[in-house]
Amino acid sequence: MNEICTSKTHWHPVSHSSAIPAAQLLAVTLLDTHIVVWRSASGALRAWPDQCPHRGAALSLGCVKGETLQCGYHGWQFGASGACVHAPATPNKIPAAQLQQVFEVIEKFGLIWVKLAPSEHALPPFPEFEKPQLRKVHCGPYEVETSAPRIVENFLDMAHFGFIHEGILGDAQHTEVPDYAVSAFDDARGKGIVATQCFAWQPKSNATIATGSMVEYTYRVLAPYTSILTKIPAAQNSFEEAIALFVQPVSEEKSRVWFVLAINDQTSAAETLRAFQDTIFAQDKPIVESQTPKRLPLDVRAEAHSAADKMSSVYRRYLHEKGIVFGTIPLVVTTKN
Ligand code: FES
Ligand code: FE
Repeated sequence: MNEICTSKTHWHPVSHSSAIPAAQLLAVTLLDTHIVVWRSASGALRAWPDQCPHRGAALSLGCVKGETLQCGYHGWQFGASGACVHAPATPNKIPAAQLQQVFEVIEKFGLIWVKLAPSEHALPPFPEFEKPQLRKVHCGPYEVETSAPRIVENFLDMAHFGFIHEGILGDAQHTEVPDYAVSAFDDARGKGIVATQCFAWQPKSNATIATGSMVEYTYRVLAPYTSILTKIPAAQNSFEEAIALFVQPVSEEKSRVWFVLAINDQTSAAETLRAFQDTIFAQDKPIVESQTPKRLPLDVRAEAHSAADKMSSVYRRYLHEKGIVFGTIPLVVTTKN
């Protein structure tokens, strides 16, 4: 089956679950669409276009009233289906007003996810998150002035460790990227592309480790803007750890980055673990924001490549084959006739 789809048919993170308690709302932007995400007094979660069908005011300037969302302009209240259920100026005659659409919204992995167009796509699996032995830590969101695919590609890139993350994830004396394998996969871990046997010498591969070690990574890309890396820590009797990268494409050239860690460390303060990720990402951010064009060119001839970039070349082809346009410069395929 042809899997051509658009970014709107995939799930994207927009908030931490805890950021929207009962009877609260939050304005977010996803794929250039302004959305109000709100939780009713009883806890029901909804994601709607942030635009009142009466006079177009932003619904996020209103408030939650019980099981309804009340617009801040004239106080119209909208119920679960998006229909107007009360208008204070005409209390005995409810206007025939209805939101043009309501979006699908779910909570998973401690985040709130929104899908803008119907599709069969489920949220990518994250089996490491389900393992009780591993501790879960949320990092970010980090605001980044570039496209989501540039951020994913940076996450997949090992050749920058010895330069951007020198002394932490990489070492100036160990800059060579040994050959690694890339393939398609479709198994219990999801479906997409995977890079295996990725080895890197890391002086400080996590927040608490004191000595350098050779670390083996696996990177899997599960959706256009979703990747999970796993690694087996040097310490004995430890489990395979994971770092999930979930990118929220705000606009074509603006993104928010959410990390979810599933790690062995049960003792370090969450602030310590977050500070480590903050440091790493602060090193990446100016570089990825400097890249031009900000949208990822899907024509592999548009930029130069080395053998170390094998995974990024396959990632570009993956986006092309999926028909992902948002955040990319699409490859124009010409056919002779
Ligand atoms: Fe929302 Fe009038 S614009 S109630
Ligand atoms: Fe990096």
